[in-house]
Amino acid sequence: MVYKIVNFKNFIDKRGSLVSLECDKDIPFNVKRIYSLYNLRNEAERGFHAHINLKQLLICVSGNCLITLDFVKYRKEIILDNPSKGLLLNGLIWREIKNFSPNCVLTVIASDFYDEKDYIRSYDEYVAKFNLDAI
Ligand code: TYD
Repeated sequence: MVYKIVNFKNFIDKRGSLVSLECDKDIPFNVKRIYSLYNLRNEAERGFHAHINLKQLLICVSGNCLITLDFVKYRKEIILDNPSKGLLLNGLIWREIKNFSPNCVLTVIASDFYDEKDYIRSYDEYVAKFNLDAI
């Protein structure tokens, strides 16, 4: 399981800023799906699952939110607050998404189609599989 914070190249001039992502270069997998979380209440809590095989690139294209990654023995908190900052998730990582700002739009670029069979939604099941994978 791997996570990586990626800073994309920004093109900034007096008109504003532009960020561009290219497959293979900025997105290290073939893109099959893009979805966005929006109209999010501040107190909402999303995620609370892990994926078995899916690779994802999370980008907060507006506003900000807090991503918590759970590695069983420790948790890592990451604030996504800029369209030029991405969080790459590859492999079995339990994630929780909270603290949505009023204008938050979280866009997720994914390596595969939606498949409920790729989800682990039970934390106990996640811990068991995580410990098994660590052997
Ligand atoms: P859910 O997994 O609860 O979202 P999150 O984990 O981000 O809080 O998904 C909410 C609903 O949307 C659920 O019924 C499944 C559906 N869904 C799709 O149909 N396609 C998708 O690509 C995603 C991510 C979810």
